[in-house]
Amino acid sequence: MNTRPRAALELDDIQRGVLSPRPTPYAATYILFRIDDRTHGRELMRRVRAVVTSAADTTSPLGDAWVSVALTFRGLKALGVPPHALETFAWEFRQGMAARAAALGDVGDSSPERWEAPLGTPDVHVVLTALAPDHARLQAAIDRARPAYQCLPGVSAIWRQDCHALPTETEPFGYRDGISHPAVEGSGITGSNPLETPLKAGEFVLGYPDELGGIQTPQPEILGRNGTYAAFRKLHQRVAVFRRYLKDNATGPEDEELLAAKIMGRWRSGAPLALSPTRDDPRLGADPHRNNAFLYEHHDPAGFTTPGGCHIRRGNPRDAAVAGEPRLHRMIRRGTAYGPPLPEGMLEDDGADRGLMFAFIGAHLGRQFEFVQSQWMNDGVFFGAGNARDPVIGSGDGPDEFTIPRRPLRRRLRALPRFVVTRGGEYCFMPGLNALSWLGDLHD
Ligand code: HEM
Repeated sequence: MNTRPRAALELDDIQRGVLSPRPTPYAATYILFRIDDRTHGRELMRRVRAVVTSAADTTSPLGDAWVSVALTFRGLKALGVPPHALETFAWEFRQGMAARAAALGDVGDSSPERWEAPLGTPDVHVVLTALAPDHARLQAAIDRARPAYQCLPGVSAIWRQDCHALPTETEPFGYRDGISHPAVEGSGITGSNPLETPLKAGEFVLGYPDELGGIQTPQPEILGRNGTYAAFRKLHQRVAVFRRYLKDNATGPEDEELLAAKIMGRWRSGAPLALSPTRDDPRLGADPHRNNAFLYEHHDPAGFTTPGGCHIRRGNPRDAAVAGEPRLHRMIRRGTAYGPPLPEGMLEDDGADRGLMFAFIGAHLGRQFEFVQSQWMNDGVFFGAGNARDPVIGSGDGPDEFTIPRRPLRRRLRALPRFVVTRGGEYCFMPGLNALSWLGDLHD
């Protein structure tokens, strides 16, 4: 048997944060920087190069802790990347997330005018993220990275967001997150669904053939190759509103859990409806070998078990018959909770800010992240449900509906309020390690 990877990914040039599954539990932090002086910005790139580990380096002295770096389009400009190179980057990236608000459904409470400063402003240039299994090791990783940005007066840290993943990996609404991940050909990292054929590396890393046979590489080659795009979004979750809505619309506690499962496509334990249709199965939910091993089309084409409009079937319809080709719209997700959990059973808002630092990684911002957000989450046409939006993150500015297919009569949830509000976000480019050196060595 030929066990050689079909796409020889240059793992030693790809940032570890792109492909490596993260430890559980973990603590993480985002630090944003503004570059006022390009020579200092370039020095930052040189220094950061020394602390960012590669996907091949799994023996870092910090163990399961690593630092990643990404730049916004304005960040590349601030470093003095020449215009002919800037023009070769993806159109959506050049626009920036705030400019794409209408397409992404960031309207009303989620509109960029209401975002948390400095998100979405021209000030955000560099995004540094550090991640570790616990706070002590996170601090060690930050301490290791600190010399990279200290004593550079032309570079200012302008925002910081701490986040965490609990041992149960539950996000603020109480569902286990971080379950479903695509397999990437040649990465050596297996996906979570044994029934899914690995995706071409070019779907996630720039410079390699993708599912359509094309190769996207921003130029010059040394800048684009082994990099990728990242989108992060700070998504505030209205947990009390979510809990109250379920309670008010359920016939009792068991029905409440069933509604929660129908909305997500998984019970809160992570057990998928597809494998456990009528009751929760926490052991299944916690078992990484089984909790994502399913498809839809053969067993559940009409969504009687997993509604076509639930969050996970929208996010990844797998083999279901929908308009479009699901393999072209996959993504690596790195969601991390922030803020204190709302105490169990509490149905009133306590005023604390909590939610998800959602992170997308992929080589195609447009046909992956933007497509899923605008066509699959904020519309229902692709599976024949008109303009119905995602019940969890749907960004309508008014009340929405959710249909649960059922025999003899379907069940309808009406007047779904908005549960998730965008607080801000950015489109970024995560360069390969050689590209970081190239950026550091730029001259005017
Ligand atoms: C606060 C906002 C969000 C919450 C609470 C949330 C929650 C979840 C949960 C609990 C899962 C199931 C666990 C898993 O498969 O890992 C999931 C899966 C997923 N979510 Fe979200 N999510 C949010 C935002 C988003 C956004 C903004 C997108 C994309 C635009 C997205 C796309 C996906 C995808 C693609 C999956 C995997 C589906 C699959 O492969 O079965 N989510 N989400």
